[in-house]
Amino acid sequence: MKILMVCLGNICRSPLAEGIMKTKLPENFFVDSAGTISMHEGKHPDKRAIKTASNHHIDISNQKSRPITKADFETFDKIYCMDVDVYGDVISKTRNEDQRRKVSLFLEAAGNQKNAEVPDPYWGDLNDFEDVFQLLDKGCDAIKNQILS
Ligand code: 4NP
Repeated sequence: MKILMVCLGNICRSPLAEGIMKTKLPENFFVDSAGTISMHEGKHPDKRAIKTASNHHIDISNQKSRPITKADFETFDKIYCMDVDVYGDVISKTRNEDQRRKVSLFLEAAGNQKNAEVPDPYWGDLNDFEDVFQLLDKGCDAIKNQILS
């Protein structure tokens, strides 16, 4: 199974989600991440995201930001979006019902309330990144349990 984590810039939330999920799933799962904007394309994750992951013994420093592509909707089985705006943008790029069915809001899929969002830590500080890490870690556990059950 192939899983894609998506946020706006692909430098804060989705790189963390990718890194965390990779530690939870067996090696035959493929986990990647992307953004809905190409502004940071080719850049490594935000230093604060790298530091936060590293505090939890996860290395995301080699990841590179990329925008989501049309091909992703064929390649991936599940596409998890970090917030409602991202979800709307991703849905607007789908071309059929099969593709739409693959897309969900990350925290909703993890069992949180409808429209629950992973807050954008970009304008915040390291504490905000740690809060996001904790939210993603719990969410990834819930999604992993669903996928593996
Ligand atoms: P991300 O965070 O979507 O979690 O990667 C952001 C990264 C960059 C910007 C906004 C959010 N930006 O405005 O450049």
